[in-house]
Amino acid sequence: MCGIVGYTGTNEAAPVLLDGLAKLEYRGYDSAGIAVMEGDALQVVRRRGKVAELAHTVGHFALTGTCGIGHTRWATHGRPSEANAHPHSSCAGDIAVVHNGIIENFADLRDELAQRGHTLRSETDTEVIAHLIEEAWGASPSGSSEASGLAEAVRIASMRLVGSYGLAVTSAREPGVIITTRRDMPIIVGRAADGSYVASDAIAVLRATRDVVYLEDGQLARLSPEGIEYFDGHGKTIAPQTTHISWDMDVAEKGGYPDFMLKEIHEQPRVIRDTLAGRLVSGHMEIDELDMTSEELNLIDRVYVIACGTSYHAGLIAKEMIESWARIPTEVEVASEFRYRNPIITPTTLVVAVSQSGETADTLAAIRDARIKGARVFGITNVLGSPVARESDGVIYTKANKEIAVASTKSFLGQLVSLTLLALLLAQSKGKMRMNQIRLIFRELADTAEQVERILSDQSAIEEAARACVNATSALFVGRGMGAAIAREGALKLKEISYLHAEAYAAGEMKHGPIALIDEGFPVIAIATQSAVYEKVVSNLQEAKARGALIVAIATEGDEEIVKHADHVIYIPKVRDALSPITASVPLQLLARSIAVMRDCDVDQPRNLAKSVTVE
Ligand code: F6R
Repeated sequence: MCGIVGYTGTNEAAPVLLDGLAKLEYRGYDSAGIAVMEGDALQVVRRRGKVAELAHTVGHFALTGTCGIGHTRWATHGRPSEANAHPHSSCAGDIAVVHNGIIENFADLRDELAQRGHTLRSETDTEVIAHLIEEAWGASPSGSSEASGLAEAVRIASMRLVGSYGLAVTSAREPGVIITTRRDMPIIVGRAADGSYVASDAIAVLRATRDVVYLEDGQLARLSPEGIEYFDGHGKTIAPQTTHISWDMDVAEKGGYPDFMLKEIHEQPRVIRDTLAGRLVSGHMEIDELDMTSEELNLIDRVYVIACGTSYHAGLIAKEMIESWARIPTEVEVASEFRYRNPIITPTTLVVAVSQSGETADTLAAIRDARIKGARVFGITNVLGSPVARESDGVIYTKANKEIAVASTKSFLGQLVSLTLLALLLAQSKGKMRMNQIRLIFRELADTAEQVERILSDQSAIEEAARACVNATSALFVGRGMGAAIAREGALKLKEISYLHAEAYAAGEMKHGPIALIDEGFPVIAIATQSAVYEKVVSNLQEAKARGALIVAIATEGDEEIVKHADHVIYIPKVRDALSPITASVPLQLLARSIAVMRDCDVDQPRNLAKSVTVE
């Protein structure tokens, strides 16, 4: 969602800010803006649309100045427009604020501020923050005066805020200074030879420094060209720990691929290998980070997997494995529902929270709720030190590395591998599977890396199927068992990046309604890999074929029967059913991408979507 950058130092600020904002584009946004201190005045430039358009406008203004803040906005309060884009300013125009998150009491604050003579110029929740800082600093229409400097004014103003925020604030009254603080939104601060940096995502500062401080809730940082000071919520000086970022900058480059999505799809064999590394030790499954003994794991008698979107689909697949291998009743729930229900939770309930970004607001709220109710929570996330990692009792990292394309691909595979490991670990602790069986599945899991490489090495059948589907207006994805869950992920991938309507059904459900949709040439994409339900899927395909459907089948190599029932067959290597989601989802990712490219869609940044959904 929204992104923050800030810089104060010896270089021109505008190019640094625009470069940082370009790095944050992947998160999804609809407008962007910067504020730069020029002489003794703050110059604010904002635009609806892309960062490139903002850069064009900034070029006209020829902004000079070595301190500034910038923002990419994903609209929540007020439509995407120049007036609602950040930075927002105080009445006097000498304080500028950029903000990620949602101020829940903004309506009350607006009324209050208006009564005290402030003029608010946007529909946003953010603007109130600039006016509250103005009041706290004693330059308000009401003339109150409490704070001695910008840091203190930000600290006092933030005490009035209910909700979540990551803030960067600068002011003409304290030139060269940026104050940043946060609650429930990430803020990263770093120091380089040319100055001090702040961002909401490490990727925006990586070019300058790899040693950063992740601010904790309530902490503040005061950045100046000379250095950075840190304060706790009471204004007392603190010395937070520095974290070294080890991942490479090339994750933010396309590396010769036309888009990040294709690059990330091709990284999946590496993700499988890295996620598995070190998990089978002396013939035993080990996941030390979970911080639970085998005896404690053995006591678990109920599992909830909570997640959203693609991560939720990984959860659906995990349910099959946990129930079948560890024999523990498992429910999978979308986090936005779970948090408002009253699920049955006891001290022997395990909640597994799956989140690529580790920041998803609904998943985080569900984690907090589950812990209050007494559950043990395991997080499965891709982002080191993310809120999901910090707030869970134990964590498994998916080792996908930074994912830039909005549509999850490599992190989904990382989640599947991690959840498979968790299911095996639970089966081991419960004594429900023999160790040689666990070791065999582990070896087969490792083999999927090479199998995915084979799928990636020849995409001609996928391209051909994509060409057949490109002009459709709707598509059905069907499968049974594991295939039904894979179908849901395939449909989500297609609709989010190609804007082609797609639905997924358990194949046996077709005759209960969706078959009415089928007429000549209607695409039905079927997961028809070898499994106990293969024949059933084939019967369902025959029903669809008889009504004119265009059938695309994902089938197992060597299956010659399927060509009789399908117009296009995409073969994948033979794996056991439990591991088929890992291999079968790869052609579905490629199919969705090819269709999106043929339909001239922006596959990396689909409209209306954000990479990490930090609002409810
Ligand atoms: C789809 C996609 C989303 C996310 C969902 C949850 O490709 O990426 O559906 O899976 O927003 O995000 P995380 O996993 O970050 O909690």
